Amino acid sequence: MINALGAPQSVLVLGATSDIAKATVERFADAGRLQRVILAGRSSEALDAEVERVRRLGVPEVQTHDFEARDRAGHEQVVAGAFAAGEVDVVLVSFGVLPDEARVRVDPLAAAEIVDINYTAVVTTLLSSANHLRVQGHGVIVVLSSAAGVRGRASNALYGSTKAGVDTLACGLGDALRGTGVSVVVIRPGFVRTRMTAGLRPPPLAVEPREVADAIAKNLVGGSRTVWVPPAMAWVMGALAVMPRAVFRRLPI
Ligand SMILES: NC(=O)c1ccc[n+]([C@@H]2O[C@H](COP(=O)([O-])OP(=O)(O)OC[C@H]3O[C@@H](n4cnc5c(N)ncnc54)[C@H](OP(=O)(O)O)[C@@H]3O)[C@@H](O)[C@H]2O)c1
Repeated sequence: MINALGAPQSVLVLGATSDIAKATVERFADAGRLQRVILAGRSSEALDAEVERVRRLGVPEVQTHDFEARDRAGHEQVVAGAFAAGEVDVVLVSFGVLPDEARVRVDPLAAAEIVDINYTAVVTTLLSSANHLRVQGHGVIVVLSSAAGVRGRASNALYGSTKAGVDTLACGLGDALRGTGVSVVVIRPGFVRTRMTAGLRPPPLAVEPREVADAIAKNLVGGSRTVWVPPAMAWVMGALAVMPRAVFRRLPI
């Protein structure tokens, strides 16, 4: 169970090698109660290294599950496997890709694959997790959305559209689960310095993964909600959302 201070005992991470996920698991471990971490990801040296790292953080039980986002039929088995071995307090949905927008725009099938990873796989894993948590009677699903989903931009329209879908589903599902003991926390970061954004110029308000992890840890109790990281992104995106389109499209973003 998650205690009143927001410290969980068990976490299922979907996208275990994500820099944001790694910082979040570390933050949970720092809280001192973490007993079991289930790392779901594609088999790789990075996943093996993450298993060792989590063990070194002092977590007694670390399990792995093969997770391929494009294998939608396999997702139920991954989620069910995690719940079969014990209670899961937090499901962290942290996988995703940031495509080369120019490349996928001229290759519709490549674009559809990005949708499969960033959106369809979130639909299947989110709904499956919600079903299992409802039966369990408690728990939190943390979903990595993005400020990019708030308004379509010329520079990342496809990525933004997947995040808009994720955000809409996660917010609505969180409200539908009210009263069940299960909540959905939607995280909307701006630019985070991770492997995903390596080589891109960080804009103002760029944050480190540990700042996203802190925001997640601080918002685990208190029900379904939306969390901007940093908080000032809420004001920036609020202003951009209502800006006339003729002006918006001229912004260098
Ligand atoms: N970084 C940002 O600025 C930012 C801002 C807003 C939201 N977000 C969101 O936050 C989440 C985490 O991002 P991050 O910055 O931590 O990125 P990251 O370090 O690049 O991690 C991405 C994760 O997605 C996994 N993944 C990619 N394709 C997959 C597939 N086909 N099957 C299974 N796993 C797959 C990767 O696994 P492998 O190691 O196997 O590739 C990795 O674990 C994403 O949803 C991202 O969209 C990021």
